Amino acid sequence: MKKVIVALSMLVMCLVVQAQERTDKWGVPYVKLNNGVEMPRFGLGTYAVSNDDCKQACLVALKDGYRHIDTAHAYNNENGVGAAIKESGVPREEIWVTSKLWPTEYGEGKTLEAIDAMLERLGLEYIDLLYIHQPIGDYVGAWTDMEKAYGQGKIRALGISNCDAKEEAYKTIVEGMKIKPAVHQIECHPYAQRLDMRKKHEPYQIVTECWFPLGHGDKNLLSDATIATIAKKHNKTIVQIILRWHIQEGFSVIPGNTNPEWIKENISIFDFKLDEEDMKTMRSLNQEKRFYNMSLDQLEKFVFARQLRR
Ligand SMILES: NC(=O)c1ccc[n+]([C@@H]2O[C@H](COP(=O)([O-])OP(=O)(O)OC[C@H]3O[C@@H](n4cnc5c(N)ncnc54)[C@H](OP(=O)(O)O)[C@@H]3O)[C@@H](O)[C@H]2O)c1
Repeated sequence: MKKVIVALSMLVMCLVVQAQERTDKWGVPYVKLNNGVEMPRFGLGTYAVSNDDCKQACLVALKDGYRHIDTAHAYNNENGVGAAIKESGVPREEIWVTSKLWPTEYGEGKTLEAIDAMLERLGLEYIDLLYIHQPIGDYVGAWTDMEKAYGQGKIRALGISNCDAKEEAYKTIVEGMKIKPAVHQIECHPYAQRLDMRKKHEPYQIVTECWFPLGHGDKNLLSDATIATIAKKHNKTIVQIILRWHIQEGFSVIPGNTNPEWIKENISIFDFKLDEEDMKTMRSLNQEKRFYNMSLDQLEKFVFARQLRR
């Protein structure tokens, strides 16, 4: 019974989100965030991509109609994102740029400086969405400075990432801080549909943005026989069905890729729709199976050992 209620409320939530949206000329839907700013719900992920490859991938993506790029200081490729934006000729205001602060940059005073350094690496005057990357260290101090930078017009929306791993951080920021997060970036794909976390986002109209939307290229997910049947029905690939499912669930989705053919394939999902039966089948694949399984303790060690480019 509880599962049915959760599923129904998810469905209502998706319908409400999608009813309020406009789309651009490529068909990408734009969600109005809880601060009134509009964000394209589809973009390019750049995790584990070198600066040069990142620049090339962003150039291809911007040519193909992508208007949302997700980077992070920890990816050491913000330079590449900024260079591609300049070279692309696409007006800055048409592109949604997301980056993330690393825990070693958290703290009042320190975070404001880190934001200025980030703007310099990106070569931009403002960032559309800035996340705290991990719920570790002085995230309250970081958020306080992010609120200041938001007030100064350097950031258009604030977000949290991976706070599903730490309930206390989620509550502290969502309930205790002046500005509520507009987006929460978490691992989410057909094998881990994150029903509990999505429910927690609802009261605050926090958009769920999915990292590892393709299970980080997991071979089993990308050859799943059930999804293959739906793909055949629509004459699409398994990857396109997964991405279309993300969009129809109301998520923001940022598949990572440097292969020009795949970049094109991944945005070619706005010329068809999954029907209710397809969506039901996709939802039935949920096992809440995660592909990234680092504990908070392990993450803390990793976080403070990570080398970042200035
Ligand atoms: N906030 C966080 O902590 C966090 C964590 C992770 C990621 N992220 C963000 O989320 C983005 C997405 O995650 P991700 O890039 O790690 O994983 P992903 O998007 O789930 O999967 C990317 C992988 O899927 C495969 N792929 C993509 N398009 C394909 C296609 N059309 N056909 C076949 N295979 C395809 C490629 O695998 P192969 O190249 O291996 O073949 C690619 O490397 C990241 O780039 C990053 O921006 C955020």
